[in-house]
This record gives sequence, C-alpha cells and structure tokens, in this order.
Amino acid sequence: MNITQPFEKLPVSDEWVFKNIKSTQQWTHGYHRYPAKFLPNLVKKIIEDYTEPGDIIADMFAGCGTTLVESKIHGRKSVGVDINPVAQLITNVKTSPIRQGLLESKFQIILSEIENFRPEDFHNIEKHARIDYWFYPSEKYKIAFLYQIITELKTTKKVKNFFLVALSNILKNCSKWLQSSTKPQIDSDKKPTEVFKAFNRQVKSMLKQNERFFNRLEELQFTNIESKLVLEDARDTSIKPGTINAIITSPPYVTSYEYADLHQLTGYWFEYLNNLLEFRSNFIGTFYSYGESLKSNSKIAQAAIDDLKDIHLRTAKEVANYFNDMYDVANEMHRVLKNGGKTFVVIGNTTFKNVKIQSAEIFAELLELIGFTIENVIKRSIPNKLIPTIRDKHTGKFTTLDNKNSKEVYPEEYIIIARKP
Ligand SMILES: C[S@@+](CC[C@H](N)C(=O)[O-])C[C@H]1O[C@@H](n2cnc3c(N)ncnc32)[C@H](O)[C@@H]1O
Repeated sequence: MNITQPFEKLPVSDEWVFKNIKSTQQWTHGYHRYPAKFLPNLVKKIIEDYTEPGDIIADMFAGCGTTLVESKIHGRKSVGVDINPVAQLITNVKTSPIRQGLLESKFQIILSEIENFRPEDFHNIEKHARIDYWFYPSEKYKIAFLYQIITELKTTKKVKNFFLVALSNILKNCSKWLQSSTKPQIDSDKKPTEVFKAFNRQVKSMLKQNERFFNRLEELQFTNIESKLVLEDARDTSIKPGTINAIITSPPYVTSYEYADLHQLTGYWFEYLNNLLEFRSNFIGTFYSYGESLKSNSKIAQAAIDDLKDIHLRTAKEVANYFNDMYDVANEMHRVLKNGGKTFVVIGNTTFKNVKIQSAEIFAELLELIGFTIENVIKRSIPNKLIPTIRDKHTGKFTTLDNKNSKEVYPEEYIIIARKP
C-alpha cells in the first residue's frame, strides 16, 4: 500500500463507524471510566473478521481491557500490557467475572458494616498529603472506612478487587476534582457525591454486568479462557517471541492524557503511588517525556519535528521522543507476533501549534521500516465522545467546546492493518 498519500484522503468506511450501536455498557465494559478507551464494537469486529478460535490476541496498551474482554467473550486467549497499575486492577477484574451469589453475600456484609460507621474512628487516620488535598474530611473518612472493610473482607483477592474497582470509580465524584475536567484541577464550589450512596449504586451496576458476563461465558464454555494484564512497558514485554496471532491496540496519543496524573486518586488510596514524578516516568506520550533528540526514523515525523522546533523546541522534543518510543513498540510488536500475524493499530492525527502531526501515517511508516507489510488502512469517523476532540489553541491540551480557544482534533481515526510476513 502506498503511504505517501495522506490518509485523510481515504473515504470513511461506514461499516466501521457503529453510529447507533451502544456497546460501551455491554459485558463488563462499563465498570470504570477510562480516558480514550476503545469502542467495544470496533474490537469485536476486528476479532470476528480477522481472527480464529484458538488464536492468542495481545494489546500492548491495554488500558481498561476492552480488547481482553472482547477476546474472552469470543473464546480467544489474550494478554494485555500496560504500565498503569490502575489499568491492571480494572482489567483483571473486568476479565474475571465471579459467581453472583458470592459477590452478593460479600456485598451484604459491606452494607451491614456501613450501618456501624463512626466517622470519629477515622479522625486520626494518616493518609498521603495529596489525599488531604483532593478530599474533604467527611468523604475521606468514609472512603478510608470502605477501603478498610474491603481489604479486610474474609474472601479471595478477586472478590476484594471487584469492590476496589467500584471504590476506585467513585473517587473522582467524591473528591474536589473538577468534574468535567480530565486535568487535575480543584473545583472549590463542588459538592462531592455522598460516598456510601455512590458506592452502593456503583456496586449494583457492576453486579448486573458481572452476572450477564458470567452467565454468557458459562453458556459458551469460555469461563476458563485465559486473559491477563501484565504491568509492563510496551517497549519491552515478557511476551514470548512469535507467540501472538493478532495485536489490537490503540497507543496513547502524543502529549494528550496524563494517565499517571489522572489515576492519582486511586493511586494514592490504593498505595500504587507515593511520588507522582516517579509514577509518571515510564508513561509514553506525556508532557513530561522528552529527551534531547530531535531525530526520528520516520521521514514524515522528521518533517513535523523540523517545523515544530522553530516554533516550540520543547514540543518538538516531546514529539521526537514519542515517535522514538513508538518505533520501539513497533519492534516489540514484530518480535511477539507469529509469522503471518497481524497488528491492528487504531490511531488519530492531531495538530500542535498549527503543525500537523500525522501520527497514523508515521506509525505506518515505522511499521514498514521494521519489516511489516501494510495490508490496509481503514478510516472511520468518531460519532461519540469517547475520546476528546478539542485542544486549546494556545496550550495544546485537551479542553471542551465551551472554551473559545478550542479547535477540533481527531474527528477521524485510522485502523492500520499490518502483517508480519
Ligand atoms: C489510549 S489508552 C488505551 C485504552 C484501551 N484501548 C482501552 O480500551 O482501555 C493508552 C494506554 O497506554 C498506556 N501506556 C502509556 N505508556 C505505556 C507504556 N510505556 N507501556 C505500556 N502502556 C503504556 C496508558 O496507561 C493507557 O492505558
């Protein structure tokens, strides 16, 4: 396939748009919010059209596990990689549904413990200073109480983790975090949601999803199909060479979401993180990751870096660093795939300081350089708001339409299909 043509010239493939199809609440997909998560239908279609029963599927940036959940319900083994421990918690819970009766009985124990809650028992509780920054004492005591009951429940780690995911998903609503924002920002006017009510609602919704997923997997005899998320770096994984039939993945966008910052509430509460600076260090595509190099193996990336460096040197370094990281990830994909195996990379283009960053074309170029054959590029439009479409013209960060500096980005994205010969 000729990749010197900009992909935006391709026609939109309607069959990949999934306009009115709601799949985000199916199975366990609705357990937890996660920025830029996959549309489950997209993954489902790739699995159905391009893989076979018995195949092993990988996702190098597995996030909250959409690829793994869809692989499991389709009877395919899967492995996910992510650097974020919050992603690991969510994904492992989403892919391991539990017998409903067991969950319900443990939930009853939690509810009866809540009846005995006494805030004064928690007044001396020592938590991280950042927890005191993000939470008012009244919410902090209740969350500390729930965390204690869950972790001390007499049950398996799997069951405890189910309730921890529920707790994790309500933290933002129960904090001072500006609700509509993906940036860490205090809203001093916000009235946080009441913790016990939010937890109750969240668990009930997850219980329904768990039950449907559990029963369907049993009917299909897919309950024991393996799937797990490993906490590793996509550039250097422990996946054995030549073992994977298909990779379905969507990399972090260049300097967009700060996943480490975004998941700090769960990170501090569940003690995954103590120091945000350290926690951020291995995430790809962040504002904090840049080196001195202004060179890329990709000619298309190089042209963008050269344009950017005269406008904003720091951004040019971030972009160079990002595509160098992506080159390493593409190499890792090549290493783990079987001969004839395929990778499906879902990625959109963007603009920084008025310089177009053709991430999709660049990724395709990197894949070719490494020895992949590009089989097809599918263009789809994004009919929902699962990923942000707006950047502030001045700061380049994601924002909302209300901001008059906003500019649309990612109205379309591409699925690059590349084969390891
Ligand atoms: C666009 S999200 C993936 C969302 C996923 N497709 C889903 O459905 O939830 C990108 C993910 O890349 C992860 N990530 C960032 N740097 C990484 C690295 N060096 N290795 C592995 N994962 C990384 C982030 O934690 C984030 O979960």
